[in-house]
Amino acid sequence: MSAPFSRRFDTNLRLAAGAAVLVLGAAGAVAAYLFHPRQLDTGYTPVQPVAYSHKLHAGNLGMDCLYCHTTVAEASYAAVPMTEICMNCHVRVKEKSPKLQPVRESYATGKPIQWVKVHRLPDYVYFNHRAHVNAGVSCVSCHGRVDQMTEVRQVQPLSMAWCLDCHRNPAPHIRPPELVTRLDWQPEGDPAVLGAKLIREKGIHPPDNCSACHR
Ligand code: HEC
Ligand code: HEC
Ligand code: HEC
Ligand code: HEC
Ligand code: HEC
Repeated sequence: MSAPFSRRFDTNLRLAAGAAVLVLGAAGAVAAYLFHPRQLDTGYTPVQPVAYSHKLHAGNLGMDCLYCHTTVAEASYAAVPMTEICMNCHVRVKEKSPKLQPVRESYATGKPIQWVKVHRLPDYVYFNHRAHVNAGVSCVSCHGRVDQMTEVRQVQPLSMAWCLDCHRNPAPHIRPPELVTRLDWQPEGDPAVLGAKLIREKGIHPPDNCSACHR
């Protein structure tokens, strides 16, 4: 009896199988890269329970970020605003708008609006808004031009490499702290020159030791 396959065919089959494994392997690696949560996070734009627009409120109406995100400068976290803050205006402005029905309902019942969190670090990472904002790092460095966004989306990867890139070279991101919420602000000349001067004056020194961020 002769062998079921000629030797050449057998070799071809093995080569083909080998190639298929390689191709599948490469495809798997690409898929793993593309669908790894960290890559997915950039651009993440969840649908919110109310069609609240930063472009309208912070951009067109010129409201300061701190009017609503009141805790950013004092606390480690940057809570989203309570319904009462919305109702400062919306008891009179667009008080019958269907788009504001969930806001009125929350106000009447005392049940907070269930905003969907856009940015989220893993639990094992320690982050502190106050330390950054008081050092003169603007919201725009980490959140982008929120004042031009109808819906907030994540523009930075929030990866360890991203944190460390700035910690090792913060100068281009440091401005006088009172300007951190002016997202369109630019110094005259090179931002890194002003930043370096402020860093010297205030002794700013972002940590890069593991225990600063992993406590
Ligand atoms: C009128 C109130 C108001 C003002 C002013 C405001 N925000 Fe917000 N912000 C909200 C609300 C409500 C949410 C939650 C819904 C959403 O994500 O759109 C939010 C969410 C955010 C988020 C996403 C938080 C998350 O879930 O990760 C960021 C970042 C943010 N705001 C930054 C800013 C910046 C920067 C400014 C100033 C340019 C600003 N906001 C001004 C009300 C406000
Ligand atoms: C300082 C006043 C002020 C505050 C505070 C404020 N808004 Fe507004 N909001 C406005 C104005 C002004 C408009 C635009 C009205 C118009 O288009 O004529 C508006 C429009 C809106 C609209 C669109 C309504 C429609 O029918 O088109 C929504 C939704 C909204 N706001 C949600 C919110 C939420 C949620 C908050 C709290 C996080 C909030 N606003 C806080 C002033 C305010
Ligand atoms: C150095 C980078 C950095 C700067 C500067 C920064 N943020 Fe954030 N912000 C983050 C990160 C990272 C998170 C996610 C934190 C987490 O998951 O613990 C976040 C989360 C938030 C949230 C969601 C908080 C919550 O409780 O859901 C809001 C709102 C916010 N930032 C607003 C602001 C505003 C307004 C400013 C400017 C005054 C600002 N941030 C400046 C990095 C930054
Ligand atoms: C755009 C620049 C920038 C980015 C991005 C950034 N940081 Fe920072 N970070 C700073 C500066 C500036 C300081 C303040 C150092 C000082 O005051 O001496 C700081 C301080 C800190 C501190 C020390 C605060 C304290 O209370 O001791 C921690 C922890 C920290 N950052 C964590 C993070 C993490 C985690 C990320 C990423 C998710 C991050 N940072 C992203 C610039 C940045
Ligand atoms: C400035 C803040 C910062 C410092 C300093 C830092 N990390 Fe991280 N680290 C992060 C953040 C943010 C993440 C989560 C995002 C990610 O996985 O990239 C992380 C994630 C990790 C992870 C999980 C990685 C994974 O792929 O799941 C390990 C392990 C880690 N860090 C170890 C270290 C060690 C070891 C050091 C010291 C050499 C260190 N980190 C210093 C911010 C920091």
